[in-house]
Amino acid sequence: MQNVSKFIENAKQSIKENEFVKLILSNKRDKKNDLKAVYLKTVLLKDQLKLNFVYKHNTKDITKNLELNEAFEELQKLLETHFFQALLLSTAADFNLILRKDKSSTLKKSKATTSKKPELKHNHEKNRLIKAKNNVYLEALKVVNASGNILPKKQKKFKQINKYIEVINDVLEPIYFENEMNIVDMGAGKGYLTFALYDYLKNTANKNPKITGIELRPDLVSKCNEIAKLSEFEDLKFIEGSIQSAEIQKLDVLIALHACDTATDDAIYRGIDANAEAIIVAPCCHKQIRKQLNPTNDLKQILQFGILKERQAELLTDSLRALILETHGYKTKVFEFISGEHTPKNVLIVATKTKKPKKDISIIKRQIENIKTTFGIEYHYLEKLISGDKKYFI
Ligand SMILES: C[S@@+](CC[C@H](N)C(=O)[O-])C[C@H]1O[C@@H](n2cnc3c(N)ncnc32)[C@H](O)[C@@H]1O
Repeated sequence: MQNVSKFIENAKQSIKENEFVKLILSNKRDKKNDLKAVYLKTVLLKDQLKLNFVYKHNTKDITKNLELNEAFEELQKLLETHFFQALLLSTAADFNLILRKDKSSTLKKSKATTSKKPELKHNHEKNRLIKAKNNVYLEALKVVNASGNILPKKQKKFKQINKYIEVINDVLEPIYFENEMNIVDMGAGKGYLTFALYDYLKNTANKNPKITGIELRPDLVSKCNEIAKLSEFEDLKFIEGSIQSAEIQKLDVLIALHACDTATDDAIYRGIDANAEAIIVAPCCHKQIRKQLNPTNDLKQILQFGILKERQAELLTDSLRALILETHGYKTKVFEFISGEHTPKNVLIVATKTKKPKKDISIIKRQIENIKTTFGIEYHYLEKLISGDKKYFI
C-alpha cells in the first residue's frame, strides 16, 4: 500500500501548496456496491478549509464536509475498501493511482491537465456583497431577523439587493470622482437599495458617497431617515419631494428604479439636465408610448394581441430612451439586471457620460425619427422635457 500513502501525500501537498483542483475515486471493488464514485473538492466553511466528499450512488448523491485530517483518513479507507482507482488533479501535475486485486499498484505522475483552480467557496455559501449578519438596516427593513437570518419571504429581495449592488458597482467603478460621489435615488420607496448602495460604497469600497433618496410619501421618508440614523449612515438622507421638482444641490449619479411610466423620463431628464456622470434607471410600465402606437403597415398586426402590444410599447419606449440619451453624449447599455424569476421589472438602462460618442449624433437623431415614423409615434415624453416644452413640466 505504499502507493496509497504516496498518493495521499501528493493530495496533502497539493492542498498545502494551494494547487489542489479535484480528486476522483472510481472503479469500485465490489461490482454490486451501490457506491459508484466519490468526488472530492476543497471548500471554505467559516474560514476553515475542508474537503467536500460527494458520494455518487446509483440513485442519489450524499455530501459530507470533512476536516482535513478526517478527510485523509476517509480517503485512505475508501481506497483500501471501495475503489481500485484514484485520480488527483492539481495545477502542478495529475496523479493516477491504480490498485489491483493482487495488491500490486501503480502511481503515475503526468503533466497537469488543468491550470485553473475552482473558486474556493461552499455551494451554499454565496459570496454576497451585502452581508445579512449584523446588518442594522436590513433588520429594520425586515429583510433579516435579529440573528441575521434572511426571512423566508425576503430571499428574493436579498438576492435582488445584492445583484443591484454588483451592477451599480460595475457602472461606477470606472468613473473618476474627484472626491465625493453625489448620488440621487429618485422614487427611493422603502430604501432597500439606497441603504445597500450607501453601505457598500462607504464601508466596502471605501468611497465617499453622499446619497439622497427622493420620495413622495412622507411616511417612507421619515422611516428611512430613522433607519439611516440608526445605521449611523451620516451622508445618507431622504427628502420628501417629487422626481420632477425636488431641489437637488449636486448630482453626479442619478438612479431611478421602478419609477412609474413617464416618471422614469422625468428622472432621466433631471440627470441629463444636471450633466450627470451616470444615469441608471429601471423602467416600470410604459403607457405613454402604448397609447400612441399606430403603425400604418403590417406591423399593425402585432398590436392586435394585447400582451404583444404591451411588449412592443416597452421595447420602443426604452429603445428611444437609450437613443435619446446617446444624442446627449451618453454611452448607453440596456440589459436585464436580475432574472425575471425575481422581478418582472428587470430591465436596466445604464447611461454613462462619454467624451467620444460611438456614432454621429445626427445619425442617431435620424434613427429616432425613423422609428417613430414606422410606429406612428408622435412624440416621446422625454423629448418634450428636453425641448423645454413647458406643458410637460409639473
Ligand atoms: C415601485 S416603488 C420603487 C421603490 C424603489 N426605487 C425600489 O426599486 O425598490 C416607486 C416609489 O416611487 C415613489 N414615487 C412615485 N412617483 C414619484 C414621484 N413623482 N416623485 C417621487 N417619488 C415617486 C412611490 O411613492 C414609490 O415609493
